[in-house]
Amino acid sequence: MERKNILAPSILAADFKHLGNEVETVAKAGAGYLHIDVMDGVFVPSISFGMPVISSIRSATDSVFDVHLMITEPEKYIADFAACGADSITVHAETARHLQRILHDIKSLGLRAGVALNPATPLNVLDYVLPYLDMVLIMTVNPGYGGQAYIPEMTGKIRALRRKALELGLSLDIEVDGGVNDRTLRTVLEAGANVCVAGSAVFSGDRAANVEKMLGVMAEYRGYDSIL
Ligand code: DX5
Ligand code: ZN
Repeated sequence: MERKNILAPSILAADFKHLGNEVETVAKAGAGYLHIDVMDGVFVPSISFGMPVISSIRSATDSVFDVHLMITEPEKYIADFAACGADSITVHAETARHLQRILHDIKSLGLRAGVALNPATPLNVLDYVLPYLDMVLIMTVNPGYGGQAYIPEMTGKIRALRRKALELGLSLDIEVDGGVNDRTLRTVLEAGANVCVAGSAVFSGDRAANVEKMLGVMAEYRGYDSIL
């Protein structure tokens, strides 16, 4: 099965004063996705930004807009996020009341559909929706803030999901989000993640150099053979 590793810088850690430049810089340095964290202050403790910000940076890059919705009642907003430029929408299993329906709605707008799982949520909530999914986002911190430490128990969760996808013959993207830095990047790649979100590790110091360094590590991981 082909493995495609992608770096997804999270703009939550960017300098919002220069957001357009930040987005262009990481895209030019080779990051394939732009990870966009939408927080409502209800599902998660903090509030980030919404549609107007996403619309305004859409013209800054052709990168895939990977929108991570940390909001209650996400079903109300799918069409709005599609309209402001999302290419991929990920909803949390814990807040999507009718998960299969919302995934169907995302796909019918021509977007990629993902489900995110909080650290304490077991993988088996995915059992009956796997065929509808392009991506599963394994939260490696509790969502709500950037700059938290990677939760070590998540390594086994990533590996178990990759093993299951391989057994079923699914070319599922497994995204990891939270506490991914130079050290933990190798851990998550080794376990079978292939889409790596990084906020503070990219948007501190020299952004382009950070992206290039992380892409260099990602290029070393070519297959999933060691996981089965
Ligand atoms: C956390 C967000 C993350 C966050 C990651 O709730 O979903 O995407 O920006 O930040 P770092 O990489 O700094 O842990
Ligand atoms: Zn995120």
